[in-house]
Order: sequence, then C-alpha cells, then structure tokens
Amino acid sequence: MRRSVQIQTARGLSKYEILISNGGLLRAREFVSDILGDHPKKIAIISNKKVFSIYGEDLVQELTSSQCPVVVYLIGDGERFKSFSVLETTVDFLAENKISRTDCVIALGGGVVGDLAGFAASVYLRGISFIQIPTTLLAMIDSSVGGKTGINSGHGKNLIGAFYQPRGVLIDASTLATLPDREITCGLCEAVKHGILSGYRLFNKTKSLIGDVKFDNEFDAFLAAQIKFKAKIVSGDPNEDPSRSDQRSRKILNFGHTFAHALEKVTDYKYLKHGEAVGHGIVFAVELSKKLGILDESVVNLLRGVVHRIGPLPSLEKLDRQQVFESLKRDKKVIDGTLQWVLLNGIGKPVIFPHSKLGDALVKETIHEVISQ
Ligand code: NAD
Ligand code: GLY
Repeated sequence: MRRSVQIQTARGLSKYEILISNGGLLRAREFVSDILGDHPKKIAIISNKKVFSIYGEDLVQELTSSQCPVVVYLIGDGERFKSFSVLETTVDFLAENKISRTDCVIALGGGVVGDLAGFAASVYLRGISFIQIPTTLLAMIDSSVGGKTGINSGHGKNLIGAFYQPRGVLIDASTLATLPDREITCGLCEAVKHGILSGYRLFNKTKSLIGDVKFDNEFDAFLAAQIKFKAKIVSGDPNEDPSRSDQRSRKILNFGHTFAHALEKVTDYKYLKHGEAVGHGIVFAVELSKKLGILDESVVNLLRGVVHRIGPLPSLEKLDRQQVFESLKRDKKVIDGTLQWVLLNGIGKPVIFPHSKLGDALVKETIHEVISQ
C-alpha cells in the first residue's frame, strides 16, 4: 500500500511529497521522475559503506539509465562524519563529477547521511535538487522531514547548517528489517517525543508499538501519523522563528534535545546514539517540569515508564555533572542570551521556558538526579 504525506513549507515556496511505500526502493526511478520530470541528467547518491552494501546496488540498478548516469559517494559511518572535512570532500566529489544545477543528490541512509548530504546539496552551486531516502526509523519519522540539514563543529552539534527542503522523501519501511535493535530504540525515542508533543492519540499509538514492532501495514500507518505531526509543525514555522514561543512553534520539536545535545557533546559523540540521548533528554525535561510544578506526578510516572520500556539506554552514571551543565549553557538554542527550555504542562501541552526563569540551581539539581537514576 502507498501512503503519501504532502508537506508545504514557507507558504507556497516549496511543497513536496513524502511517500511511504513498502518495497518503494525498487521503484525509486518512478518517484524521482515524478518529482523532477526530465531532470536530473545525473544523480549523485550519497550514502555510507554499511547502508550502501545492503541497499546500494539495488538502488543504483533501479536508477541507472543511459540518459541518467549515477555516481556514488560513500562517507564513513557515525556522527563524527557530519563534519566540515567530510562536507568538503563531498562537495569536491560533486564538482569532480561535474554535477550541475539540473542534477540531483539522493541521500540513502540515516540522519547522519541525510543531514550531511542535504547540507552539501544546499551549498553546492548555491543549491541543487535533493531527495531523501531514509533507512533508519529516526530518519523516516524525523530527520528526513522538514529541511534541517547540517554538520557538527567543535563548538556544538548541528551548529553549521541550513534550512533546505528536499524535493521529495521516499520511505520504504522494509529497509528497517536490517536495522539493529539499538537503532530501533533510537527511532522510538524520537517517536515518543512526537507523541508527547502531539497529544494522547499519537502518544498512545506510539506507546502501543513499543516492544512489538512489526513492519506491516499498521506500521506504515504509524509512520504516516508521525510524519503528519512533524509536517504540520514544520509547515507552520519552517525556519524556526526565534521570536515564537507558542505551543505550535517549531522550537517545541527540540523537546528533550537541550540535555541530549549536552550529553552527546560531553561524551564526544561516541558513547550515546542521538536517539538514546533524546530518551534521557525526555526524562530530564519531564523531571524539570515536575520540579517547576507544572506537570502532574501521574504524567511524570507514565512518561518515565514509557521511556524506560523503549529499550535499554546507556547509563549516565560516570558523566561529570558540572561538564554537562556547562555544555548545556552553550547550546545553540540560546536566544537573547538565555537558553530556551521546552518543558511540559501535560501530554500535548509543550511550553517554552527561558532559562532565566528557571535559574541554574534547579537545572543543576535535575542534572544530578537524572544522572544518578
Ligand atoms: P545514523 O545515520 O548514524 O544511522 C544509525 C546507524 O544505522 C548507522 O550505523 C547506519 O550505518 C546504520 N543504518 C542505517 N540504515 C540502516 C539499515 N536500514 N540497516 C542497517 N543499518 C542501517 O543515525 P540516525 O539515528 O539515523 O540519525 C542521527 C542523526 O540525525 C544525528 O546526527 C542527529 O543530529 C540527526 N537528526 C537530524 C534531524 C533533522 O531534523 N535534520 C532530526 C533528528 C536527528
Ligand atoms: N528535529 C527538530 C526539527 O526538525 O525541528
């Protein structure tokens, strides 16, 4: 069955289709030509060695024709490859292969490949067409949708980037069959985040999947519901307007991420996977909301329980609490000199709080508690 979610951003500037189609990877050519018509004249697939070794040959075979040659660039596997140096070699590859403005980049892989390839497509020749084929659960429901692209710098995660919408997103859930359990846990952490932000309907749908993930028709419906939620938020605030702090501003999607990014940074992006860090970040935001007296104890217990059921999250016990605090304060979500926290009034009720209203002491106390749990 094919399911399609349309996403419209920046009021008419760009509209694209997110197609959820089991087995769709083997029909990628139809998807690409539906979107780009006569173009592209050439396709550059950007992937990593691991994903390409499983799905690359099939995709290249499906896309290659005499009118449309395909070239492939493989980056290393892992967060550290979302870097300036890999961006440079990727852009060099596009130039060496004479990729022109009528050609297209396809990202085949998880969020690391998608973020890097999307950013490369946004800066190369001031922007060329870009299609996402996400192959992790996290990338399917989150990173491939909404046009945030970028790389990390020594100063922080995703610090360098651009809002650059893809021309289309092709999701084939059958590719998740080869995804390690740990990566499914990561995707479910982001899915629970969406559920919490959206309301009980999506939250319960997501909760019921935990511990019983099967890539069937129902799963495709779950993907569509997740993506619809993200698409709705992104459509209303495509560039994450810094002046907005309402319940439906794009900033709410950073729920759990302030603490998550600090954890990733202090562990040098090696110990925790991004989704796992988000799992811890959700618990942190929930505890902080409880301390502020804005979230009921029953919801706190429910959410803590759900996050712990998703899968084992690496222990934080050995982390230096002061280092985590300092890293938090350098987060890029600082506006007018103060960090913006996304906290919770209830399920479906996010609230944005400037750090200046919370104070350091409460945050330090929460870091201590969450790390000691
Ligand atoms: P990832 O891209 O590192 O992929 C996880 C692992 O799974 C990798 O080892 C990868 O090689 C492997 N893999 C991918 N697909 C596979 C498949 N089908 N079968 C077997 N192995 C497969 O990690 P991720 O969780 O997909 O993405 C995390 C990144 O996404 C982070 O850099 C994060 O900052 C970014 N992100 C971006 C956004 C956004 O809006 N742009 C949103 C959320 C996260
Ligand atoms: N993952 C957060 C966003 O897309 O805004």
